[in-house]
Amino acid sequence: MSGVIQLVTEVPGPNSRALLARRAQAVPRGVPAVTPIAIVGAEGAVVTDADGNRLIDFGGGIGVVNTGHRHPSVVDAVRHQLDRFAHVCFPVSTYEPYVDLAERLNRITPGAHSKRTFLVNSGAEAVENAVKVARAFTGRQAVVCFEHGFHGRTNLAMALTSKVNPYKKGFGPFAPEIYRIPFPYCYRCAQAGPRDSGSAGECCMASRSRLEQIVASTVDADSVAAIIMELELGEGGFVPAPREYVTALAEFARDHGIVFIADEIQTGVGRTGKLFASEHYGVVPDIIITAKSLAGGLPLAAVTGRADILEAAQVGGLGGTYGGNPLACAAALAVLDVMESQQIPLVAARMGERIRLRFCQWAGRHPCIGDVRGLGAMIGMELVRDPASKTPDKALTSSLLTAALQRGVILLSAGTYGNVVRVLAPLNTPPEILDEGLDAVEQALEAVAASRS
Ligand SMILES: Cc1ncc(COP(=O)(O)O)c(C=O)c1O
Repeated sequence: MSGVIQLVTEVPGPNSRALLARRAQAVPRGVPAVTPIAIVGAEGAVVTDADGNRLIDFGGGIGVVNTGHRHPSVVDAVRHQLDRFAHVCFPVSTYEPYVDLAERLNRITPGAHSKRTFLVNSGAEAVENAVKVARAFTGRQAVVCFEHGFHGRTNLAMALTSKVNPYKKGFGPFAPEIYRIPFPYCYRCAQAGPRDSGSAGECCMASRSRLEQIVASTVDADSVAAIIMELELGEGGFVPAPREYVTALAEFARDHGIVFIADEIQTGVGRTGKLFASEHYGVVPDIIITAKSLAGGLPLAAVTGRADILEAAQVGGLGGTYGGNPLACAAALAVLDVMESQQIPLVAARMGERIRLRFCQWAGRHPCIGDVRGLGAMIGMELVRDPASKTPDKALTSSLLTAALQRGVILLSAGTYGNVVRVLAPLNTPPEILDEGLDAVEQALEAVAASRS
């Protein structure tokens, strides 16, 4: 039976290689080329490269096309808006798609309290602005963040980001008043004993007294404006925080008057099998930040939170020339319609089960798969030299990604040690295309594992 993958040249082919050569002369190397292919078209979960090869996209533009490439409703909404106007600048003249989207996000994010939303262009910008409003509201300056966390590449977002190379090396000085605490990464927790993530058991960092201790050893809790957390680490390696830890942390924040910011830039908009990962934890963050899949491929990010917190910034303190661009707002409204009408979070949960099952089957045969974990369709597998030492195997991970690409699947890695394979395929990828992609990844895994032993 023929599938959607169609390879007419080696990957990368000559046209991809030629464009990448031009790119190397025109664009600095600091902007990475994670895959060596050039794309000329994309539809649903399938992309076409410059040589006419058709590949399955398990990267989704790094988690941006949860509703698939060029979803017809999103394309129509953007076209419709483009026929009216593309830009007037929201701080200058008000337009309805921005207000509609703010109302919608205020309604669908966890918590029935009064909320406000404002829009910016990128995840990093949302991070910066969430911290700004938390500081304005509390009159405090310190921000607590996590080891393995990723929050973007602007100055404050970079300071909040954990991994030094490549994100921070040589780019200091960093924003002050940032305090980093351990993330509950159970698979690599020295105190976890035989427990691996996903199994039953208490998180050793989840008790209130332990949290007080951890924070007190780095900063005075009563000087902290905000705690910012990814409930499941994205770039840090698809590590979901244990529920009991998040519950304890949210209580700790509340009792110390600290604004709890959930960075849902990668976890949000259906990825984890709920519209927002916070819903898995039963916590109501004071602020939720979203970006990536919010506008299905157009640049847009949102800061949504308690009205009293968001109203703390003075007039003119928030905003920007492009923030909440009308085309992006129209796209986001269409994305949220699709999420609702096609029950995409539910579809994502089912898709996640399918991926988890395959990863677990592979783990049964390949001891190099040390851990399989994640919420909903945000599933990753961590590759190690051997299960006892858990030494990260970055080389094997990158060989696997290359082998998958050569078989027609775009696959991405993550993790502080570069050894986690993650799937960020569109959530509405048809099961037969998902299976075809997983089959290709399985063949790639068999090939790299065989060449290793
Ligand atoms: C959790 C998280 N926060 C923030 C960001 C930064 O977003 P952007 O690249 O749009 O600035 C990312 C991007 O990967 C992310 O995954």
